[in-house]
Amino acid sequence: MKKKLIAIAMVSLFTPLSSVALAGDAAAGKAKYAVCGGCHGPTGLGNPMLGYPKLAGQSAVDIAGKLRGYKSGERNNVTMRAMTAGLTDMDINNIAAYIATLK
Ligand code: HEC
Repeated sequence: MKKKLIAIAMVSLFTPLSSVALAGDAAAGKAKYAVCGGCHGPTGLGNPMLGYPKLAGQSAVDIAGKLRGYKSGERNNVTMRAMTAGLTDMDINNIAAYIATLK
């Protein structure tokens, strides 16, 4: 009986999470973007003078790919490696979904 309840709880816990992981939740990403905005600007326009690239206008797929590149070290940048080190796969999808809404 107890086991069954736990199993049901697990299913209802993980089902919404996995759909978020596939699509990316822009609202959740917006909260995570707060720290990024310090360099890339609150609307993602960046600051070319300081070497902070513009993110607005890029697709979620591009942004997610670049973030994974920094996290893995394939893209070599100390700042962005540190910024992505603590991000989960879901965080990356959510942040990318949010950035894709910036024009
Ligand atoms: C301390 C400043 C700083 C912060 C904070 C920061 N970044 Fe960056 N970001 C940079 C710099 C500098 C680069 C350029 C790195 C390079 O030359 O590859 C960059 C590059 C990027 C790129 C690649 C852009 C492109 O088109 O090549 C993405 C995407 C990105 N940042 C996303 C983020 C996200 C998401 C966050 C928050 C989790 C974040 N950044 C936080 C400084 C920052």
